[in-house]
Amino acid sequence: MSFTLLDGKIISQRVREEVARQTEELKRSRNLQPGLAVLLVGEDPASKVYVRSKAKACQEVGFLSEEIRLPFQTQETELLDCIQKLNQRPDIHGILVQHPLPPHIQESLIYETILPEKDVDGFHPFNMGRLLLGIPQFVPCTPLGVIEILKRYQIPMEGRHVVVVGRSNIVGKPVAALFAQKDFGTNATVTLCHSGTKNLKAHLKMAEIIVAAIGKPQFIQAEAVREGVVVVDVGINRVSDPLSEKGYRLVGDVDFDGVSKKAAAITPVPGGIGLMTVAMLLKNTLKAAQMTIKNL
Ligand SMILES: NC(=O)c1ccc[n+]([C@@H]2O[C@H](COP(=O)([O-])OP(=O)(O)OC[C@H]3O[C@@H](n4cnc5c(N)ncnc54)[C@H](OP(=O)(O)O)[C@@H]3O)[C@@H](O)[C@H]2O)c1
Repeated sequence: MSFTLLDGKIISQRVREEVARQTEELKRSRNLQPGLAVLLVGEDPASKVYVRSKAKACQEVGFLSEEIRLPFQTQETELLDCIQKLNQRPDIHGILVQHPLPPHIQESLIYETILPEKDVDGFHPFNMGRLLLGIPQFVPCTPLGVIEILKRYQIPMEGRHVVVVGRSNIVGKPVAALFAQKDFGTNATVTLCHSGTKNLKAHLKMAEIIVAAIGKPQFIQAEAVREGVVVVDVGINRVSDPLSEKGYRLVGDVDFDGVSKKAAAITPVPGGIGLMTVAMLLKNTLKAAQMTIKNL
């Protein structure tokens, strides 16, 4: 079976161009430049790469971009103080705290301190609550990227059976909530699976759309899925590869080579949802800046 590659590179580039055009317009007509502050605590190598790519993406679309790097030993109160200052700044419309934080910092407290109108990651309970109530304001970027790529490839979601594997607060739960929205172009029937799910394979076999957000390399294999399934692979896992320059390569939670033989459409890793996530962050930041005009 030939499949459609759901290409995050192409779609994210299109989104970036749209954001760049709208940013130019905002600057010209309102003298307003969207601004994003990204905070990184510690030295996690993967987080450093993500923060750098987010800052670069911001600059490319014409945003003000501020990268704040704090040492691993930073105390919770210092980080809260830093967020409070960013909350007050009119030139900063979005605040993002890179995940994961060191264990001595309570993540939920950090997310709750960011003003909901600057919460471009959508992790504040206010924004999560709005999503569940069906009146989303800021939606987490990765789930938003999943829906966006499916919409842009005109993959029907209405009434279809979606199986989401993984129930994290940043991916699984919000993506399930998005698919279940009544008026979001989605309106799907959702099954949310996790490590306590009995007979995962039976659920996967019934899925018309699968979203994998597990964090286990190539966990979903071809024999678990049915012909014609649409697969969105959110997973980003490093596996050792002595042949590569870095000594590792990135793979998803889905065995791409096997599953793509049965799938109607599938996202690659890399080149899929990771790129969409950054593009959605730009969209959310632009929206946060635009919202300040409406609030004037
Ligand atoms: N593309 C992107 O931009 C992006 C963004 C965020 C994350 N990611 C990637 O996406 C993956 C998931 O991230 P996350 O933050 O959501 O991970 P997480 O917080 O570790 O959550 C993993 C989820 O998978 C479930 N799970 C684990 N083993 C399972 C099994 N054998 N069967 C069924 N479910 C199982 C867990 O169930 P329990 O709840 O029962 O423990 C949990 O809900 C990772 O590879 C991460 O790197 C990518």
